[in-house]
Amino acid sequence: MFVRHGIPGETVRVVVTSESKSFLRGDAVEVLEASPDRVPPPCEYARPGRCGGCDFQHVALDRQRLLKASLVEEQLRRLAGVSLDVLVEPAPGDVDGLRWRTRVQFAVDAHGRAGLHKHRSHELEPVDFCLIATSEVEEVGAERLPWPGAASVEVAAAGAQRVVSVNGRVQDLPDVEAGVVVNGRPRRVPHGLVHSVLGRSFEVAAGGFWQVHPGAALTLASAVLDGLAPGPEDTAVDLYAGVGLFASLLGERVRSVLAVEADARACADAARNTHDQPNVRIRTAAVDAALVSRLPRPDLVVLDPPRAGAGLEVSRALVGLAPARIAYVACDPASFARDLRVFLDAGWTMPSLRAFDLFPMTEHVELVAVLTPPGE
Ligand SMILES: C[S@@+](CC[C@H](N)C(=O)[O-])C[C@H]1O[C@@H](n2cnc3c(N)ncnc32)[C@H](O)[C@@H]1O
Repeated sequence: MFVRHGIPGETVRVVVTSESKSFLRGDAVEVLEASPDRVPPPCEYARPGRCGGCDFQHVALDRQRLLKASLVEEQLRRLAGVSLDVLVEPAPGDVDGLRWRTRVQFAVDAHGRAGLHKHRSHELEPVDFCLIATSEVEEVGAERLPWPGAASVEVAAAGAQRVVSVNGRVQDLPDVEAGVVVNGRPRRVPHGLVHSVLGRSFEVAAGGFWQVHPGAALTLASAVLDGLAPGPEDTAVDLYAGVGLFASLLGERVRSVLAVEADARACADAARNTHDQPNVRIRTAAVDAALVSRLPRPDLVVLDPPRAGAGLEVSRALVGLAPARIAYVACDPASFARDLRVFLDAGWTMPSLRAFDLFPMTEHVELVAVLTPPGE
């Protein structure tokens, strides 16, 4: 039985919310014996049956990280056959786990009211604020404005810059202090955001992917660079490159980089973000086993796939490619552990695995693993 709103070790009264053949899901609705790590949820919407965004508002931050560590350990044991003690490191500057989301996507109901989805549901919880959003995102006030005809509203911020992307059959737009993009078409500047990491600037078009926690890009970039230890004679491949975060930073340190990304708009941003780096090439393509097996052998690979992971076929193709080091950046411990098994079965080792709490108050955790082939 999977129980939300509880903490392992507690005695709680549970209401079953869904049943399948092999397990039940439920909400802890009454706490009979509380864990010493239970805290009052700072957000009034983080309650059984209400907003599904946060899983751990009722858990002390240190215990949240221990829970995430045990989740990663369990997936590694179950799916990769690896026994490892995992330490989940806090994001830089994180004090209370709140006000870190630089991008929030709200769904909009038939009355034009913005809200967040309930847990595992298409139903909306109308909210007036979101405590994990940064104050720059919250100052737009999207939750308290009318969005008639819209299906979704995304608010993203980089420092004081903000952009709102609206999708749907949008009618009248409320006045917001931000750039506005409607169904991908710019309405008011800025149409994108500019982030800065380790001395380089990264433009991201509205609605495009950028790491969400304000400290995430630097944390992950530093972990990837530490793990790969790039040298000036190395060649590198950045798979699932987004707007070129890792490709550009590697480009400063190695002989050449090939970045591969499927989304054309992200590739256009990546090309702009690396325009002064003739040694960085951007290729618009889907990463698959055929593409990987046709690559010239690089020394270093960054692998930062979406939640589904790189998959067995791409992982096998990477084993065949045999770079000296791979940095696998993973936001889903289960798909990562499944892929890791492919490398371990082929005799590879994992000299380092770091875990970061880049999504406080939620069950999510980000991993950076270094993988090396036999003999390296
Ligand atoms: C987790 S993001 C990582 C982006 C980038 N590394 C960063 O940190 O900003 C995953 C990226 O993979 C891209 N993507 C998803 N499926 C893909 C595929 N099959 N081939 C190439 N890129 C893909 C997405 O468009 C997205 O930019």
